[in-house]
Amino acid sequence: MKVFLIAGARPNFMKIAPLYREARRRPVECKIVHTGQHYDYQMSQAFFDDLELPQPHYFLDAGSGSHAVQTARIMIAFEEVCRKDRPDLVIVVGDVNSTLACSIVAKKMLIEVAHVEAGLRSYDLTMPEEINRMVTDAISDYFFVTEQSGMDNLLKEGKPAEKVFLVGHVMIDNLFHQVKRLEQGAEIQPGVKQIKERFTEYGFMTLHRPSNVDSRTKLLGILEALEEISRGLPLIFPVHPRTRKMLLRHGLELPENVAAFDPLGFRDALYLWKDARVVLTDSGGLQEETTALGVPCITIRENTERPITVEKGTNVLAGCSKEGIL
Ligand code: UD1
Repeated sequence: MKVFLIAGARPNFMKIAPLYREARRRPVECKIVHTGQHYDYQMSQAFFDDLELPQPHYFLDAGSGSHAVQTARIMIAFEEVCRKDRPDLVIVVGDVNSTLACSIVAKKMLIEVAHVEAGLRSYDLTMPEEINRMVTDAISDYFFVTEQSGMDNLLKEGKPAEKVFLVGHVMIDNLFHQVKRLEQGAEIQPGVKQIKERFTEYGFMTLHRPSNVDSRTKLLGILEALEEISRGLPLIFPVHPRTRKMLLRHGLELPENVAAFDPLGFRDALYLWKDARVVLTDSGGLQEETTALGVPCITIRENTERPITVEKGTNVLAGCSKEGIL
């Protein structure tokens, strides 16, 4: 049996790592297809290194662009790969444009699709990821689900119960694997070690969602909240390329007590956030990872497609206004 594992953007890499490890122990020919949605060293190759992933078998080199351009480029390139080297099954993870593009291509070529992290819903269609999740789930053959809300959503949408599996979260499998690697003394960048030693207490933050950073007014409100928080608690902030671009475009600067970094690899970031007093984020995955390690998390969003993190975990939904975050 030949299986393609699809990854394209940063949050995909930690989800395919445990799947690839497992596939190698089984009689499956498993090939990694990297769409190239993310391409900078720190957004892509750094993760392959940290997660002990081999070089992808196929690299589609899609790059950045509008949603239509990026999705179309991935579709054209992936169709060609499937034509030349047809797999029996395509496994897509998460909710990025690569997930959507590759599931559509595979289904139209009558290749079965399995969606890992299926069934999550924010019901907020202004969020591109929600569209990606809904379309991917509409055409997938097998659904691997991380939390009960995903089961409920898929069954409500009429999916056959025998195709829907509550399996827990491969991203959390990866997290525990990587925590162990840190305990065994895995290497950390000297600059990252130094910053942790410099502060007795700190917060860790990430921010990259278009709805938070593309509008000047929204971003300014968030920066004002960070200014106030960081007066009492220094913040460590690896800045996503989109956010860096938007700060420049809007002529805004980060507050003085916010220590900015280029994007960090998986292990360096984990080394910092696992001991943070609090994590502030608009990421999807970090809401779940902080829950798994019991680190308080404040999510700078109006809604979450991962309600278990609020019901059972450490996550609080703050909204995106200065007052909400404070
Ligand atoms: C994408 C995902 C989002 C995920 C995020 C994690 C979609 C719709 N969005 O958003 O769900 O949370 O990744 O990072 O799939 N850029 C670089 N270098 C790179 C990649 C991007 O500089 O390696 C810059 C480009 O200027 C690009 C911008 O970042 O225009 C945004 O990248 P893009 O992949 O379009 O979306 P993300 O915001 O990263």
